[in-house]
Amino acid sequence: MVWIFLWILLISCLCIVLYLKKRRKRMSNEPPLDKGLVPWLGHAVEFGKDSATFLLKMKRKHGDIFTVQMAGRFVTVLLDPHSYDSVLWESTAKLDFAAYSRLLMDRIFDVQLPNYDPHKEKNMMKTQLQGENLSTLTQAMSSNLQNVLLSEAKGTTKTWMKEGLFNFCYNILFRAGYLTLFGNEREHSNKETSKNKDRIHSETVYHEYRRLDQLLIKLAYSTLSADEKKEAASVKKRLWSLLSGENLNGKLNRSNWLEGYRNHLQDLELQDDMLARAMVLQIWATQGNIGPATFWLLAFLLKHPEAMTAVLDEINRNGKLHGNKIQFNNPLLTISQDLLDNTPVFDSILNEILRLTAAPYISREILQNMTLRLADSREYNLRKGDRLCLFPYLSPQMDPEIYEEPEKFKYDRFLNADGTEKKNFFKNGKQLKYYNMPWGGGGNVCIARVYAINSIKLFVFMMLSQFDFQLADPEARIPVFDTSRYGFGLMQPEHDIIFQYKPKVE
Ligand code: HEM
Repeated sequence: MVWIFLWILLISCLCIVLYLKKRRKRMSNEPPLDKGLVPWLGHAVEFGKDSATFLLKMKRKHGDIFTVQMAGRFVTVLLDPHSYDSVLWESTAKLDFAAYSRLLMDRIFDVQLPNYDPHKEKNMMKTQLQGENLSTLTQAMSSNLQNVLLSEAKGTTKTWMKEGLFNFCYNILFRAGYLTLFGNEREHSNKETSKNKDRIHSETVYHEYRRLDQLLIKLAYSTLSADEKKEAASVKKRLWSLLSGENLNGKLNRSNWLEGYRNHLQDLELQDDMLARAMVLQIWATQGNIGPATFWLLAFLLKHPEAMTAVLDEINRNGKLHGNKIQFNNPLLTISQDLLDNTPVFDSILNEILRLTAAPYISREILQNMTLRLADSREYNLRKGDRLCLFPYLSPQMDPEIYEEPEKFKYDRFLNADGTEKKNFFKNGKQLKYYNMPWGGGGNVCIARVYAINSIKLFVFMMLSQFDFQLADPEARIPVFDTSRYGFGLMQPEHDIIFQYKPKVE
C-alpha cells in the first residue's frame, strides 16, 4: 500500500517538474504572454463566452499586441489597424490562411479535401462571382427573391402578418440565395408549379440549415452535449442528402459558380459523399452572412426614422434621375443595376451596419519563426505553430479613437458633406487604410462582396416598395448580440424582435 502511494507521489512530482520545465515563457522580443490561471486551458472558457469583452480586457492590460493561451494553443492577437498590412500581405509561406479554414471545415462540416489547393479554388470562384457572371447572378437573385418574398405574401393585403424580423430576413435571403447558386427545381409542364416547388424545397433546406447554424459555434469549439452531437449528426445527414450530386444534377439554372466548384472538387477525385459534405460547407460560407446583415439593417432603419427617410428620399431622387422608380407590382423591371450602383446614402447605412455587427476573426497559422514589424517600427518575434489573429471589430470598427461614440448608429457616418462616400478616418493623427473591415482585407478580402451588396439592396428595396412594415412594439429595443458568435462573421441577435408587415395597396 505504502509502495503504491510512493509511486503515485513520484509520478505526480515528475509530471509537475516536466510541466514546469516545458511551461512556455515569454522570450525577449516576443509579445506580452498571458497564459491565464488554468494550466493548458488558459483563457479558453472566457474567450468562448464573449471574446470581444475578453480581448478588450487583454488590450487594456497589454496593449495592441499580446499572446494568450487557449486550450493548449497560443494565439497572438494584433489590434493595431495601422499594422494590419504586415499580416494581410505576408507571404503564405510564413502566414497561412488555409490551415485554420481546413481545421474548421473538418470539425464543423466533416470535410477533408486531400490535395486541396486554396489558390486554385479562389481563382475559380473569383471568375464565377465577379465580372460578367455578376449580372447573371444578380438577375437570378432578383427573380428568386420575388418568388420567395412576394409570392408568399399574396392575398394578405388586409391583415398584418407578424413574424420575428431576424427569422424573416434570414429565411428569405437564404432561400433566394440558395436557389440562385444551387439552381431551381425542375417542372416540365407548368412554370408556376416549378416556382411552388422552389419555395417548398428551399424552405426545407433552410429549416435544416438553420438548425446546423444554431449548433455551429459549439461544433467549432467541440463543446456539444451528447444530445446535441446526435442532433448535429442527423441534421448534417439530411443536408448531405438534400445536396447530393443526384439531387443537384436534377436542377435547372445551376449557377456557373456551382458548376465551377463541382468540377474543381471532381478534379480532387473525391467520393460522392465528400462532394455532398463540401456543398453543405459552401451553403454556410455563401449564405451565413447576408441574412443576418439584412436583419440588422432593417432593425436599425425601423428604429431610426431619420435614416429611413434618407433612404426613401434617395430612392425617389434616383427614380427621377435615372427614370427607374421602384414601383408597386413591377419590382423586377424597375430595379436596375444603375439604381443599385447610385445609392451613397444606402451605402453609408450599410457600411455603418456592418461596422457595428460584422465581427470575423482574420486568422493565420504561423508556419515558421518570424519577425512581425508594426507600423510604428516595433518588432516582435512570433513562434512557428502559434496562430496570429486580427479582430477588426475591436479596432478599427469599435475604436473610440477612430469613431466618435462608436457604439451608436449614425446613418451618415460614411458620407461627406457633399454627399460622396467618406473614406478618411484617422488614428493617432495618421490616416487609416483599414477603417472598416466587414469584408476582411488584403489578399483574402471577400470575393463576393459586390454580389452580396446587390442581394442586400434588392431585398431592402423590394421590402420598401412592396410592403408596409413596422415593429410590432415600437418601443422594443434592438436585441443584444449572442456573444458566443464573435469571430464567425456577422453577429446574430440573442433573441428575435417581432415585426408586422403587409403588402402595400396601390
Ligand atoms: C454580408 C455578406 C458577407 C460578408 C460580411 C462576408 C465576409 C467575408 C470575409 C470577412 C472574408 C475573409 C475571411 C478571412 O480573411 O479570413 C470573406 C471571404 C470570402 N467570402 Fe465572403 N462575405 C459575405 C458574403 C459572401 C457571399 C454571398 C459569398 C459567395 C457567394 C462569399 C464568398 C467568399 C469567399 C469565397 C471568400 C474566401 C476568399 C479567399 O479565399 O481569399 N462571401 N468573406
